[in-house]
Amino acid sequence: MIDVKKIREDFPMYKNFHPKNGYPLTYLDNAATTFKPWEVIKAEEAYYTSFTANSHRGDYELAHDVDVMFENARETTRKFINAKLPSEICFTSGASMSLNLIAYGLAHILKPGDEILINKAEHASNVLPYMVLEKEIGIKVKYVPLDENHEITVDNVLESITDKTKVIAMAYVSNVVGDIRPIEEIGRICEDKNIYFIVDASQAVSHIEVNVEKCKMSFMAFSAHKMMGPTGVGVLYGKYNLLEKMEPLQYGGGMNQYFEEDGTYELKSIPTWFEAGTPPIAEVIGLKEAILYINKIGVNKIHEHELKLKKYLIDEMQKIDNIILYNKTSDSGIVIFNIEGVFSQDTSVYLNYYNISIRAGNHCAKMLKDDLNIKNTCRVSMYIYNTVEDVDRLLEALRNSKDIFKIVI
Ligand code: ALA
Repeated sequence: MIDVKKIREDFPMYKNFHPKNGYPLTYLDNAATTFKPWEVIKAEEAYYTSFTANSHRGDYELAHDVDVMFENARETTRKFINAKLPSEICFTSGASMSLNLIAYGLAHILKPGDEILINKAEHASNVLPYMVLEKEIGIKVKYVPLDENHEITVDNVLESITDKTKVIAMAYVSNVVGDIRPIEEIGRICEDKNIYFIVDASQAVSHIEVNVEKCKMSFMAFSAHKMMGPTGVGVLYGKYNLLEKMEPLQYGGGMNQYFEEDGTYELKSIPTWFEAGTPPIAEVIGLKEAILYINKIGVNKIHEHELKLKKYLIDEMQKIDNIILYNKTSDSGIVIFNIEGVFSQDTSVYLNYYNISIRAGNHCAKMLKDDLNIKNTCRVSMYIYNTVEDVDRLLEALRNSKDIFKIVI
């Protein structure tokens, strides 16, 4: 069991954010972004106040110290996801950039007629890059059907694979349905059939154990800000031999060996060739602290805590007449629902009156409406610092939702 009250003391947001209408802050939008503990904030502050220098460029001691910190962060990240080599970890601006880099790299490897399998619950960043490839190089985007709970099953993946399938891309945990996909089994299938396996782990890395080797992933992407780390930094993981085949999307300083007037140039080895320009140094150092913070609590304990809150929320929501629940079966801290007859954004505005933050809309997974039969939903996403009292405040507001239009209008 974790001590949530004690954990909350690590997060200045709980101290600094003032009550609204007399209600305390109830933040339940953790799939969008998470609060940051002091460790992360102080690590970034220390970079700016006590050891500012660029990385991988300077021959003086201060720059060397920064290089050591930057590469330590890479090693901490490697261990966190169980990659084989530090050079398989590239720092990017976030999961979207990582996924775009992968798609751009694949554009130089795939051939017209090759098939990419995605699904309709995916986030825009794991859909649009492949739609562009479809237009630009003539590959075909196909969809693994979701089951009756809007989840991915191994059988549906197997049935969707053809001899033209070259790539399977999916989120580890859907940012809407919240189902934890059977990534290990799918990884094994991909390895057997020689299919590139791309995993968007944005909603997974700080909630469940993620092991790129065990799950036979070719590539994986995630953002630091969804795991208590800074905004503006993310990770692209790729198997060494695959990263070597990829073309960089950005060229510039730090990633080349030389370039000459006659047009010849040589790039440095990976991961540096994916890190053109000055990297997000303070953010990378902050990401390391976020990983250490997660490790200190234990990711399994985080998951256990989220499931406990989710079960309580679902059990109680089912007792409220006018609530429609869409993902009772999924096994993360994400719950999607609507109040019958109420537009999801109106529900969100209503809850804001009680200082409760949730997300409403399509959550960037714009094709899921075909499966859910509804365009927009309200999404609650819980994390390590959420309490039973947070859930109670939400439930209380939902029980009293007959007043909704007095508040919204
Ligand atoms: N992808 C983030 C979300 O699901 C922003 O809210």
